[in-house]
Formats: sequence, C-alpha cells, structure tokens
Amino acid sequence: MTQDELKQLAAEQAVQYIEEDEIVGVGTGSTVNFFIDALAQKKHLIKGAVSSSDASTERLKQHGIPVFELTAIDRLPVYIDGADESNHLLELIKGGGAALTREKIIAAVAERFICIADESKLVKKLGNFPLPVEVIPMARSHVARELVKLGGDPVYRQGVVTDNGNHILDVHNLDIIQPIALEQKINQIVGVVTNGLFAARGADVLLIASKGGVKTMTC
Ligand code: A5P
Repeated sequence: MTQDELKQLAAEQAVQYIEEDEIVGVGTGSTVNFFIDALAQKKHLIKGAVSSSDASTERLKQHGIPVFELTAIDRLPVYIDGADESNHLLELIKGGGAALTREKIIAAVAERFICIADESKLVKKLGNFPLPVEVIPMARSHVARELVKLGGDPVYRQGVVTDNGNHILDVHNLDIIQPIALEQKINQIVGVVTNGLFAARGADVLLIASKGGVKTMTC
C-alpha cells in the first residue's frame, strides 16, 4: 500500500467518531483531505464543521459542508486532525502545513481530539521532524536566538505566511526529552504565537494505519 492509501485508511476510520447533529472540528493536511472527502458522504448527519485553515475551509465548502466560526458555536465534541509525529503518549508535533495555531485552538476547545496518521508518523521520541514555531514577523530574529539557547537550530520557512499573517521557524536538532515542559518554555518566548508541540493537550485517540489495518491507540 502507498503512504496515501494508508492516510486514506486512517481518515476513513475517523468518520465513526463524528456525532450526529453536531459540529466537527477539521484539521489541515493531506491526511485530513481524505477525511474531508469521507465526511462529505455523511454530511447529512452533521450540522457542519469548524476549520483550522483556509485550505480546509475551501475543501469543506467545495463538498457543500457548512463551515462555522469557532466563536459561533458552544460545543465541539470532536476534532479530527493529522500530525507530523506522534509518540506513544499521543504527544504530537504538528505544523508542517503551517496551520498549527488554529489547530491548537480548535484542539483546546474540542472534547476529543482524534489524530489520524500513517505508521511513518509514530516515533519513539519526538523531534526528528523539525519543530514548527509560528512567530510575529518582527520578532523572528529574537525568537530564533532564544531557540538556539534551547539547543535548537531554527530555519526560517522562506516564502510562507500563515493564515494569521505570521512567519514560521522550523527548529531542527531539539532534544525533546520532556515535551510538555519544552512546549511551555517555547511559548514563553516573547514573539512566539504558538509552537507545534501538542503535548499539554495531545491527542485522545490515535488511528494509525499500516498495511495490516488501522490500530486504535489511546493513553
Ligand atoms: C498542518 O499544519 C499540520 O499540523 C498537519 O496536520 C500535519 O503536517 C500532517 O499533515 P499530513 O497529513 O499532510 O502529513
């Protein structure tokens, strides 16, 4: 099976977690695109979606799925999103698609976060994937210097402006021994909007697809 076929397998399993007559939180990325396509088949069952990026909003609308503002809803039972890496505690690195801030906001609001991924994303230790950090543009150099003090090698993601008008630093070579502590430490750097560690609020369920099928992990 190809990696795309595995992503699709995990995405299709996630449809079982949607709640009838409720809003579904929708993440961003190639795995989530498969989820949106699967959700379209069940759109009569749900009220609509909240979306973590302009790209997902567009895809949802193309399928005729109503998209709500997060401020307009009072309950979000479930959020479905992919990840760049997950460890066995379902702590994640996200943000490869630059949508990390809106993703983190929706994950914080959701009652359950269901992460969907192919088996290549499951790792023993986070950090092989460079950690994305969204920064206010004028703070970019300051934040980069502070990230070096934490042992990382930040690289400016050239040409990328987030949906919030900010820049991304991808931090290589971080030794992520304590994901929650590092997430909090990076958040405290002035000029950081969000970092891509989803550890304080990780996933509740990980649907991980391999050629043997989809495994459901919880912690
Ligand atoms: C988007 O900013 C990311 O957090 C994605 O969820 C993550 O990069 C996974 O993307 P893929 O499903 O495309 O691998």
